[in-house]
Amino acid sequence: MSSANIPANFPVSRLRRLRRTPLLRDLVRETHISADDLIYPVFVEEEIDTPQDIESLPGVQRIPEKLLADEVRAIAADGVRAILLFGISHHKDATGSDTCKDHGLMARMVRIAKEAAPEMLVITDNCFCEYTDHGHCGVVHEDTVDNDATLELLGQQAVVAARAGADMVAPSAMMDGQIRAIRQALDAAGFPDMPIMAYSSKFASALYGPFRVAAGSALKGNRATYQMDSMNTREAIRESVLDEAEGADMLMVKPALAYLDIIAKLRERTLLPLVAYQVSGEYAMIKFAAAAGAIDETRVVNETLGSIKRAGADLIITYFARDYIRSHR
Ligand code: PBG
Ligand code: ZN
Repeated sequence: MSSANIPANFPVSRLRRLRRTPLLRDLVRETHISADDLIYPVFVEEEIDTPQDIESLPGVQRIPEKLLADEVRAIAADGVRAILLFGISHHKDATGSDTCKDHGLMARMVRIAKEAAPEMLVITDNCFCEYTDHGHCGVVHEDTVDNDATLELLGQQAVVAARAGADMVAPSAMMDGQIRAIRQALDAAGFPDMPIMAYSSKFASALYGPFRVAAGSALKGNRATYQMDSMNTREAIRESVLDEAEGADMLMVKPALAYLDIIAKLRERTLLPLVAYQVSGEYAMIKFAAAAGAIDETRVVNETLGSIKRAGADLIITYFARDYIRSHR
């Protein structure tokens, strides 16, 4: 709408009329965030006895596998309805083979979580970087991540998650053709109804820094040959549109706050549910600024979550989900 269409008719129009009281402001609020919109990431580490604080992510812990059931029940009791599971493996190898086993960490986390809280939606982050000794998101051949060899393993991994009882798989490796490969593998294994939440437009971002510490990533180097250049808009749209064509049930933009333009543009191009990931660095920026007294955490969380929804995201994956939901009940 151009400004020419809005008559400048002050004093007839006074926008402050609808801002006069909290009741009026609530009545005309256009954007709302509820527990149904939020997904809470959970880090699960095998072979440890006590929860580990993560220095760069204050308020987030690595949960021991043996305490996961209690933790999931507590998360559910806080009102969280969906979690995204990340495994921290002590059995890393060149191909991340642990995660393709029915008794590997990914499958065990899913079974524990679903048993502890059957009503909780359990999503797996499907990738290899937490399970490979080199830290890359796939199989490495001659110094590069081998796309097509990784596709085969992504298919196996998704089937393992499905057999364990996951409600949805979320492939995040950024391999070309991964959604098609996973859809085919799931269908062939008898899981035609398993939804795929595609990390479809995932950028090679410096904002993943705290996550890599949290997940104990072994990565030396970077992911620039598979994750996207942060300067590219058209390519980001192509990535998501292609994932939709390959069978994705939901699309995602990641990170969120520095990519609101991508979310808004993608919203115009797809009818699929759109997810945004407010990543570890976004969380850390708010937490540390608030701890230093520079900003009010609660208000900045509201404001950033609101901006992500306003841009066009239906769902937000965020480390603030649990606190936000608990404090809005
Ligand atoms: C793994 C993965 C990453 C994140 C989610 N899944 C890290 C990466 O790509 O290096 C980042 C999440 C965050 O920073 O909160 N592929
Ligand atoms: Zn990865």
